[in-house]
Amino acid sequence: MTNAITSETMKISFNNFSKLYGTEKIAIDRAIKKVLSSGRYILGDEVADFEKDFAAYIGVSQCVGVANGLEALQIALMAAGIGPGDEVITTAHSAAATALSIRAVGAKPVFIDIDDYYHLDAAKIESAITSKTRAIIPVHLYGQACDMNTIMDVAKKHNLVVIEDCAQAHGALWNGRKVGSFGTAGCFSFYPTKNLGAVGDAGAIVTHDSAFAEKCRMMRNYGQRNRYEHDVYGINSRLDEIQAAVLRVLLKKLDRNNKRRLTIAMQYLKGLKDIGDIQLPRLRMQADHVFHLFVIETGRRDDLMAHLKEAGIDSLIHYPIPIHKQRSLAEFNSLSLPVLELKVTRILSLPVHPYLTTTEVKKVIAAIKKFYESPLNP
Ligand SMILES: Cc1ncc(COP(=O)(O)O)c(C=O)c1O
Repeated sequence: MTNAITSETMKISFNNFSKLYGTEKIAIDRAIKKVLSSGRYILGDEVADFEKDFAAYIGVSQCVGVANGLEALQIALMAAGIGPGDEVITTAHSAAATALSIRAVGAKPVFIDIDDYYHLDAAKIESAITSKTRAIIPVHLYGQACDMNTIMDVAKKHNLVVIEDCAQAHGALWNGRKVGSFGTAGCFSFYPTKNLGAVGDAGAIVTHDSAFAEKCRMMRNYGQRNRYEHDVYGINSRLDEIQAAVLRVLLKKLDRNNKRRLTIAMQYLKGLKDIGDIQLPRLRMQADHVFHLFVIETGRRDDLMAHLKEAGIDSLIHYPIPIHKQRSLAEFNSLSLPVLELKVTRILSLPVHPYLTTTEVKKVIAAIKKFYESPLNP
């Protein structure tokens, strides 16, 4: 008997955090130790330096570090003055956090259907606008930019605020410009699975507008401008020093990791071309995709997922239940979004993290080919 793990039995996981930590261990350990010995754990130099670094990376003048992506959206909405009685047009095909942030400020999410790129269908925005509409939250889902030309044009025409949900698109481009730099604000999550992930929860708001950033800065810290002076309503959503220090280390690796994700995606696009009924991800001409997720579509999704599991390959569904069908948003349950409702039965996310090896990607492709070649799966 041998305990050796052969490449035949090796499991392919959806993410590999220990590999990420192993690769950057020296720099991460050093950054964390520096914070621990500094004695300053909240809103110190690491947060201020990360905010500078990340604003420069996105190409904006301002960044405000916050506790997570949901609160980045919530604070951006608060700073834009959006609240009860207001409507915000968005997508039901996202992490629930997108809609929850709208609910958190007392406004109403207005969900429109999605397009072939899994984004809110920009052509459908105008017909959803009412006298109460104040904002649009486009989500650059899976790592690809939404159609920002149309979205910004409609927003301008109707005087609407655009808050970009960039939680899945760190470094993604639209017309050569980073997402997050188009709207009034760009909101990021640094949840560990993201292209830029912390070692816990973290988030940020980016903007060109220094007055808007100042409001966000107060709102993340109980509404204080100065200590114990609460000028505006606020919450506690501070980015902590340890997360900021780790993010500064990993930001330097983001472009390299995004490039690796793109290489893996290209390997999938080539290897899975014309296999069975697979619909590969469609790429927008004006976008540079950063493949937070590599999502295929098939009419036999559940069987393929079971087959991959049997072969030791993780796959996931992002997301299996559209937001408007969630029990906690019962008032939207009767809404019909036919494109989205069909796509959720067909989508499957394959592993695409930057530490996946070429051999592992080949194994995933081979397993998918085998599924379609099997006589059990004509
Ligand atoms: C598109 C999208 N928006 C918002 C969020 C919320 O981010 P967080 O989990 O940091 O609150 C996420 C992450 O799950 C996300 O993927």
